[in-house]
Amino acid sequence: MQVIIGSDHAGVLLKKQLVAFLYAEGHEVLDCGTFNDDPVDYPDVAEKVALEVKSRSIPGILVCGTGIGVSIAANKIPGIRAALCHDLFTAQLARQHNDANIVAIGSRITGPGLAEAIVKTFLDTDFLAGRHQRRVEKIMALENKFRERV
Ligand code: RB5
Repeated sequence: MQVIIGSDHAGVLLKKQLVAFLYAEGHEVLDCGTFNDDPVDYPDVAEKVALEVKSRSIPGILVCGTGIGVSIAANKIPGIRAALCHDLFTAQLARQHNDANIVAIGSRITGPGLAEAIVKTFLDTDFLAGRHQRRVEKIMALENKFRERV
């Protein structure tokens, strides 16, 4: 599977570990940076990853200190459903119920072993559609409804 990943400086070490994990799992990885711990602004990397996820229709992984900033920023891009996941259950339901296309992880919150398991669960779990389809469509309808108003 092709996967997009990106982090700010606070997430760069965890990102590096996740990239190695993804390769070991046989995935193709597009790393959008950052590549060292010089401070960068998390909305910039969130935008980069979100646009790649959108145009290629493949899953994305975003890492910052808490996962909060990157998830808020990525969710501003229409078509993006970024879920901040702290455990395997939220990773599973983010896919099954919300059809999330980006998983956000906090490097200051989640250790590398759990982060790998979250990523694996996220990538291995399918959207259940059914009743959840209508709800996800309503999320997208909200994007259209408020697109012109702000
Ligand atoms: C950077 O210090 C930090 O604010 C960022 O990584 C993230 O936690 C923001 O939500």
